[in-house]
Amino acid sequence: MIAPDDAFNGAPQLRTEFETEREHGAVRRATLLVTARGLVEAWLNGRRVCDDVLTPGWSSYEWRLRYASYDVTTLIQERTVVGLSLGKGWFGGRLGWSGKGSFYGDELGAFAQLEIEFEDGTVQLVVTDESWRSGPSAVLANDLYDGQTIDARLVDDAWKRPGFDDGGWRGVHALEFDTSTLVPYIGPAVRRWNELPVAEVIVSPSGKTILDFGQNLVGWIRVRTSGPAGTEITIRHAEVLENGELGTRPLRSAKATDRYVLSGGTDEFEPTFTFHGFRYAEIEGWPGALSPEAFTAVAIGSELDRIGTMRTSDPLLNQFHENVVWGMRGNFVDVPTDCPQRDERLGWTGDIAAFAPTAAFLFDVDAFLSDWLVDLDLEQQHHDGIVGFVIPDILKYHDRERPTDMGPVDSTAIWSDAAVWVPWTLYQAYGDESVLRRQFGSMAAHVRRVDSLLSPSGVWEGNFQFGDWLDPDAPPEYPADAKADKGVVATAAIYRSARIVADTAALLGLEEAHREFDAIAARLRDAFNSEYVDDGVVKSDCTTVYSLAIVFGLLSPEHEEFAGRRLAELAEQAGYRISTGFAGTPFITDALTQTGHVDAAYRLLMEKDCPSWLYPVTMGATTVWERWDSMLPDGSINPGEMTSFNHYALGAVADWMHRVVGGIAPLTPGYASVLIAPQPGGGLTEAETALETPRGRVAVHWTTDGDQLSVEVELPEGVEGILRLPGEGDRTITGGRTTSISELTPAVA
Ligand code: BGC
Repeated sequence: MIAPDDAFNGAPQLRTEFETEREHGAVRRATLLVTARGLVEAWLNGRRVCDDVLTPGWSSYEWRLRYASYDVTTLIQERTVVGLSLGKGWFGGRLGWSGKGSFYGDELGAFAQLEIEFEDGTVQLVVTDESWRSGPSAVLANDLYDGQTIDARLVDDAWKRPGFDDGGWRGVHALEFDTSTLVPYIGPAVRRWNELPVAEVIVSPSGKTILDFGQNLVGWIRVRTSGPAGTEITIRHAEVLENGELGTRPLRSAKATDRYVLSGGTDEFEPTFTFHGFRYAEIEGWPGALSPEAFTAVAIGSELDRIGTMRTSDPLLNQFHENVVWGMRGNFVDVPTDCPQRDERLGWTGDIAAFAPTAAFLFDVDAFLSDWLVDLDLEQQHHDGIVGFVIPDILKYHDRERPTDMGPVDSTAIWSDAAVWVPWTLYQAYGDESVLRRQFGSMAAHVRRVDSLLSPSGVWEGNFQFGDWLDPDAPPEYPADAKADKGVVATAAIYRSARIVADTAALLGLEEAHREFDAIAARLRDAFNSEYVDDGVVKSDCTTVYSLAIVFGLLSPEHEEFAGRRLAELAEQAGYRISTGFAGTPFITDALTQTGHVDAAYRLLMEKDCPSWLYPVTMGATTVWERWDSMLPDGSINPGEMTSFNHYALGAVADWMHRVVGGIAPLTPGYASVLIAPQPGGGLTEAETALETPRGRVAVHWTTDGDQLSVEVELPEGVEGILRLPGEGDRTITGGRTTSISELTPAVA
């Protein structure tokens, strides 16, 4: 690992030049392994070795630094230059809301190993060492949150090619570095995945020029233009407009500003050492008349295969589903984050605990989340089994800013349960039990840790809880002040985790562990009922507590029936507007469905008044918002200081849409057998859902015509399914196409 002898504004370039050992014959294969403390872009003889951006992403660098590996066989010449451009990234830039950064070290560094294999079997190795040279780049500032400054007058690509005189450059020095932390990527690289033109050029009431790309996205703007040398163009990004002006308050301290200085010729700028969450961009300093063609919004994200789709007869619902997809893409940038735009962008565990089932249907996230789970496990191992609020855990460096009312750091319900819920979700979606084997230590440690925190009566009370975070009835500044009792939420959540860990242990043949966790789960269930359930009424008597108690299987059959009725009643009393936060939202529609109130679930789903899932869509949202009312009905931004317009957590209902509206659910993990059970409702006359499962494509298309339901199912060859239609008995179906026409009961039609 080498570092430049000068910081060069946080964007140094490193190079080496060497002669190929041609006496060994033709080059059979050449591979470049590369990583960095910071971000790295690698070049061979002036050519980028890959399309990846933001390499090596963000992992728990203290214990794990991933390297990328590229086939560069065709780029080797007689003399070859390896060039590395560095940026600050997660290693050297700001992280979190404290205004601080560089938590992992003071110096950016690079590690590269080029392996050239010749015809005669000899391998020539070119590695980062003290013979490399370092110099400045045209990047004058870079930070993931704040943006990037590029001075095109300083662009000179000669350094990337043989023969460059690096006499004026500086040296490099070796950094102390533990090579045992180097590991290959498990998950995919981050890449550009979409480009959008300007949809509209707006002149704001104050006279500012604002571009609207028509979609809230994550990435940056590529600009191609020419103008007088030294002209400085400033681009500020934001997700929304307020009073016709750029609404930057939700970004908090993130400046999200790129600056470009023109060379006098034709310049192309692309700020690849930052990213922004934006739909709008304000342009300042443009030379002459602005032409929209000069700008392209480039969307970036981890490269994921799209596997699940859904479309219904309702345009608003379809837009909501699109918003879930866009929100996911923008927050799956190497780490599953809460939001992509403000001074946060952290791997909040509770957000992915809620959203993982939806994510696993829309895209193949097996490798992506497996990679992140390695860090979760590592952080936990170094923290007494505690699963942090965020992974990678930078809050441990923030601790001095931690509000004192949060008490000592410990595990917290829903958030820390990600350690169990996420691997379980991957197993259900893809059927590969190796994720459970790999994560079992972490899953078990989480439940044991919480078991040690339980009260004498066996419930989880007493340490800090986010609880039903962002309950719409909580005051904007106190999102944790929910209606749901925190002990109820916490005890329910850890019961679910204990149950899953017990089942996992049984599946993996770990008998002793199975007994241990089965006993913990049984104790938790008893304690939950004796402490919190009185004649079926669950303490704090609100939608979230019934939803969790029902879906997690905490109640006796009589109490469950009562709870279902009470839940439906509370939903109706709320006018079918949403009354749940992070904890209850992913489960309320399932709880209603499970207890025979699917009609009420549809009423919630189709509601348009605030707060509801469709309300943001009626306000023109193109991603899922953090708050039910991130934008208030009058178009103003929610006054809470924490207001993002791109948070996936509350989009978790899409999972229910796929299973209950669309009708595709795994009967056994990995869809080895499939449950096809669409339950039409909500006034929808059609839904079409498809999923590329590990065994092939499953698709369901249903339409209604009056009280007639037509269903067309496609299953992969060799896969069995159960077709369960409203009012009909179960039918076993096999691979290929099945069609069915049946009568809907009047209530559903
Ligand atoms: C994040 C959330 C997160 C929460 C935890 C927020 O700042 O954006 O999504 O889960 O804090 O309370």
